[in-house]
Amino acid sequence: MKNSVDEFFERVISVKLPEDRSCIDIIDQTLLPGEIRRIGVRTREDIREAIRKLRVRGAPAIGVTAAYGLALLATDIKEETFEAFYPRFLEEKEYLAAARPTAVNLFWALNRMDETAKANKDKPLPEILEILFREADAIREEDVQISRGIGEIGLSLMEKLKKPGKQIGILTHCNAGTLATAKYGTATAPMYMALEHGWAPEDMHVYCDETRPLLQGARLTSFELYNAGIPTTVQCDNMAAILMKSGKIDIIFTGCDRVAANGDSANKIGTSALAILAHHYGVPMYICAPSSTIDMATPTGDEIPIEMRDGEEITSMWYKERMAPEGVDVYNPAFDVADHRLLTGIITEKGLCTAPYKEAFEALGIR
Ligand code: MRU
Repeated sequence: MKNSVDEFFERVISVKLPEDRSCIDIIDQTLLPGEIRRIGVRTREDIREAIRKLRVRGAPAIGVTAAYGLALLATDIKEETFEAFYPRFLEEKEYLAAARPTAVNLFWALNRMDETAKANKDKPLPEILEILFREADAIREEDVQISRGIGEIGLSLMEKLKKPGKQIGILTHCNAGTLATAKYGTATAPMYMALEHGWAPEDMHVYCDETRPLLQGARLTSFELYNAGIPTTVQCDNMAAILMKSGKIDIIFTGCDRVAANGDSANKIGTSALAILAHHYGVPMYICAPSSTIDMATPTGDEIPIEMRDGEEITSMWYKERMAPEGVDVYNPAFDVADHRLLTGIITEKGLCTAPYKEAFEALGIR
């Protein structure tokens, strides 16, 4: 029997392909929490715009959207032979890859689609197109299982820290929840797994950083957890220190957009500051990372490209009036890199990794 959390998950599925394959069906995350509106995107311009404008966002959800996008755009290529089809397929791949630079899942998913096309190049084109759709479905379905794997490990860490009769305090940043993935999220998966394993919602209390400037924590994570019945508090990002000092936070889970081979983890701007605070206050901090987010080709965080966004997101987007003088310079990096030395561990679906991370990733077969 479906419970109310499952029903909620169904309402807010981030990305899906309708049976008639007429478009990619996404929930427009820029409108949440005020309005739950689903939109269909079909053209290359609309698909890339949806990713760029964060209508669909979160590393795994971006990957799934790109995979479906490439499968759909491939159906528009009217060629007779694979040799004529493939260069145009690559053009579409490059076009989608230019949507955002930091989340490696975008490139991982597009490369996986490319490898699939090449591996089947001797088959008739209509069959290749079908195989591409099946591969995109597989990327989506695997993500559900990956989240469960991360969630089980995160839950085992929560179980060790939970004191009888006391709520466990969890802090998270940005949104690494159902909206960012195919179902359970990454950083939120331990909470949802806890419910599946019989924890009462009141056994935990999740503190969501509001996550300036785009407010993914306030608008999306608290919306999700509140609807799941989990006690939730929203605070400004600059309140994390007082929360940690007061002893309210037992554990921190965040998602990530790209983990370098040495464990440096790029995630939403502010994650690095959280890691520094967590280290200072002795709060365990875990990065929740599908193995597809670990980029062994990037040696350290210094080589991870950081997306810079429009300053208007800081100065005026959420305000009735502009909150900085017209013309003033604005600095708006969308991500920062948490130094691996500050992290307690990185949770992948294959297992929990601790320093030295490169060796730990390799031991799990991540290459
Ligand atoms: O800019 P966003 O909203 O796409 O940033 C998202 C994050 O930083 C998430 O924490 C990350 O993608 C992990 S999602 C499971």
